[in-house]
Formats: sequence, C-alpha cells, structure tokens
Amino acid sequence: MTDIAPRDLRPLWEQLKAEAAQDTRTNIGFPGATDITHEQLADLMTGVLLNNIGSPYDRGHGRNHTKDLEIEVVNLIADLFAAPASRWGYVTGGATEGTEHALLDARRRYPDAVVYTSAAAHYKIGDLADKLLMPLVVIGTDDGGRIDVTDLTGELARRRDRPAVIVAIAGTTMTEAVDDVPAIAAACDRLSIRRRRIHVDAALSGLPLALLPVDGVPRFDFNVRAVTSIVVSGHKFLSTLTPSGVLVYRDPPQAALSAAVSYTGTANVTIPGSRSGHTTLLLYAALAGLGTEAHRARVRRCRDTAQYACAQLCRIGVDARRHPHAFTVYFPPPPAHLTQRWVIPADDRHGHLICMPQVGRQDVDALIADWKLPMQPTPAQRGRLSRLLAAGATRAQP
Ligand SMILES: Cc1ncc(COP(=O)(O)O)c(C=O)c1O
Repeated sequence: MTDIAPRDLRPLWEQLKAEAAQDTRTNIGFPGATDITHEQLADLMTGVLLNNIGSPYDRGHGRNHTKDLEIEVVNLIADLFAAPASRWGYVTGGATEGTEHALLDARRRYPDAVVYTSAAAHYKIGDLADKLLMPLVVIGTDDGGRIDVTDLTGELARRRDRPAVIVAIAGTTMTEAVDDVPAIAAACDRLSIRRRRIHVDAALSGLPLALLPVDGVPRFDFNVRAVTSIVVSGHKFLSTLTPSGVLVYRDPPQAALSAAVSYTGTANVTIPGSRSGHTTLLLYAALAGLGTEAHRARVRRCRDTAQYACAQLCRIGVDARRHPHAFTVYFPPPPAHLTQRWVIPADDRHGHLICMPQVGRQDVDALIADWKLPMQPTPAQRGRLSRLLAAGATRAQP
C-alpha cells in the first residue's frame, strides 16, 4: 500500500480558481448558470454533514438532514408547474436521475411498456431505457428539433395494445425546442391508449417557461391532464453550481407506498440511498432567496441576450436561429478555429451557444469578433507546418 503524504493544497485550489475564472468567459455552450453564488451557505456547505437518505416525506432515524426544506423546494417547483395537492417529488442529482425515476415507476406499473422519445432527446434517455430493459422507439423531429407528432402517432398506432411511456422534451439539448405535449396527449387519446405515462424532461427550459410563458410555445405543466411527471435541473437555470435537479409527480410513485426500511427509517423510494442535503440548501437559497420576480428578470435578460446574439450572428452571415423563448442560439457547426477558444458543442447538424444569465452582450461581441477572424491553423496544423518549413530549410541548404 502506498502512503498518502499530506500536502499543502492551497496552491492547487488557487490554480483551480484561476482556471475556472478564465474558463467562465469563453464557456458559452453549456447551460449552467453561475450568476447566483452562495457565500452565505459556506459554513453549512463545508462544515456540516447533511444526508437526506430515502424519502423526503419520512424523517427517518438520522436527524442531520434538510428534508423539511426539500419538501418546500419540491412544493415551490410543483406550484410553478400547477401540480395538484396529490403531488410528490424529491431533489435529485440532476434531470437524468429524475427521468430514470419516472421510467422505473412506469415500468413497475406497466412491465410491457414501450418508451417513445424524439431523436433530439438527451443522449442519456436512450441509455436509461437500455439500463431498464425497456424497448425504445425514437421519433423524428421537425427542422427546429420538435417531436414530429404525426410520426409519433403512427408509431403509437402500431403498438396501441402496449402501454406507452412518452418522454417529452421541454428544451432539447441542441436547439431548446419544446415538444407539443397537448398534441402528444391528444394523439394518445385518439388511439385510446389509456395505459400511458407522459414524463416531461424540462431540464433547462422548464423553469424559465413556467416563470415567463411565451405565446405560441405549447404548455407542458400539470394543467395538461395527461402529464404524469416533470423534472428540471438545478444547476442549469437555478445556478446551484453543483449538479442537482427536482422531480415532481402528479401523484406519488408506486415505491412511495412501500414500508420504511428498518435501518434508515424511511421508504426506499429514491434512486440513490444517501442523498445530498446540501443541494436542497442551494436550491432553496436560489428559489426563496431571490423570489420569482428576480427570476423573471433573469429570464428576460437571457432571452434578450440570446436575441442580440442571434441578430449579431446573422449580421456577419451566420445562419443563426432561435426559438422565441430560448436562451439557445443554434447555427451550422462553427469553424474549427473558433472552438479552440470558445466552448461551443456541436453535432453533425448544429453548434450552439446558450445565453445563461452570466453571458452578457460584451461576451457575444467578443465571440463575434473572433468569428470574423481569418481561419487560424490548429496546433496540429501549426506543428505540421513548422516541420515542413524546417524540412524545406534543410533541403535548401547548399
Ligand atoms: C434536455 C436535457 N435533458 C437532460 C439533460 C441532463 O440533465 P442533468 O445534467 O441535470 O442530468 C440535459 C443536459 O444538457 C438536457 O439538455
């Protein structure tokens, strides 16, 4: 066994802080808000063990938890989505965990269920269906990334004797398109598919749209009677600065009814056993510490910056687009020289930038200035070029 000798880690922490500060100006491709910081929680975050093991609704044997606040967080989010009093939810480690929970609950209810989602869904949804051994049907999208409801209806019709679990997306990863959930529900109704679950993966756009709806963007909250669960990420709009999420069900999932585990004193209803009690503090600080008006102002600012970015990109000839509610501006994959400095994720169809609250017009201007620069060689190209030049210089010697 190798001993670990204690080290002075302060230089490492300083270096990491400097790297993070440097990165924050050019990281415009991923939807993590960083504008709300949590200095007031420093003592609780770094000096106290908080474990919300098991169900938030059972206090359990341990006392070092934040379950009362967790239920408040769930209720604040549930209210934004118009959840009925029968609501149930918990603070997850992210939207992915919430979707896993919803799929698992669906499979427990309907062991022969088929999962449907769109080709623009987050890559983890395919993974989750695979892990849970649930058959997955991937549906096409329109140009902007919305699920093609006609295609979905056809696929549902082919399996109308099987229960359907539809994962609708409110804010697709690449273009932030919102699926038409009322139309999806109507398609199930027309086919008389009553054994069904509609889970909404609203990781990024759920909260902004609940706070400030936009005309023409279909609703996906619990007012749509067929919606069974919704999940949002906490580290996206709510700036929790560490991965988190909130899952809300219309009615408790089946596992919520199970008896408490004797060791923990709480129902075994969540995906993990031990769960962070600290992320609940961050979510509560962001939600209740700012209040809805301040969050609405953040939404307005993001949409305004995104509209500006889209216009500026179009001005320099980039085919940039944006859905009217979106923080995301998408465009054809950007030139390679740009991604050396800027974090701009791309697939074979689109690259995008996402105007989270910390992104300002000055960042957009800096990006536009770089976009207009002539193509710079990549480090690999530069190396090849200098080797070629060196070989040429050698040959040229007498
Ligand atoms: C539509 C969608 N769903 C889920 C996720 C994953 O969310 P999380 O990181 O909270 O698990 C993302 C992340 O970008 C996403 O865009």
